[in-house]
Amino acid sequence: MSVPSPLVVTHPLAQIHLTEMRCKETPAERFRWHLHRLAEILFTVASRSLETQTLTVQTPLASTGGHALLRPIILVPILRAGLGLADAIHPLVPQATVAHIGIARDEDTALPRPYYTKLPSHLDEAEVFVLDPMLATGGSACMALQQLKMAGAARLTFISVVSCPQGLEAMQAKHPDVAVITAAIDDGLDDRCYIVPGLGDAGDRCFDT
Ligand code: PRP
Ligand code: URA
Repeated sequence: MSVPSPLVVTHPLAQIHLTEMRCKETPAERFRWHLHRLAEILFTVASRSLETQTLTVQTPLASTGGHALLRPIILVPILRAGLGLADAIHPLVPQATVAHIGIARDEDTALPRPYYTKLPSHLDEAEVFVLDPMLATGGSACMALQQLKMAGAARLTFISVVSCPQGLEAMQAKHPDVAVITAAIDDGLDDRCYIVPGLGDAGDRCFDT
């Protein structure tokens, strides 16, 4: 299976946080802490090309040039595990709007089932960052992106912690216009469509369920 080219963040600090998250002995409290630190790094990379407009700012000594973001930012965590990413990223861009999309995989079929959507009206003018730690079959991500495009979103980035070839193939097939940022491309899926080696169920590990 050929893999489209997501941006894999190989920064050593990102990889150290990911390693702690993978370890099955890491308790939820520490899992969340490492997820938050990793989310900060991933968003810093994912936002590197945001367009800015120039402005003039008056320092105590002189006036000088500066920058402001050109477009509003919308963060879209896919419930529930995406909340762990949003909690860490929102303080980096406190002016961002947070939209929510609830999607749960059916435990038998691994097919995504949508159960909640709350979107703002200005998706068409915003930079939209969709957040979900796991890109497994890609079903949940593709469904969320479809919802967002139908509602007008045009500038989309997907941030994940662990991805795999199957999920990336699905994204490339259905949403080739969406940039993917991830900390790892793992080997593949097991017979329950969990990522291997992965880190287990991200929602359960994050929220201790
Ligand atoms: C997990 C994960 C993704 C999805 C990935 O969520 O957070 O949303 O599975 O799998 P996919 O790529 O095959 O669709 P889950 O449905 O388990 O819900 P949860 O976050 O509430 O635990
Ligand atoms: N969802 C998860 O939380 N983990 C996986 O490995 C696959 C889907």
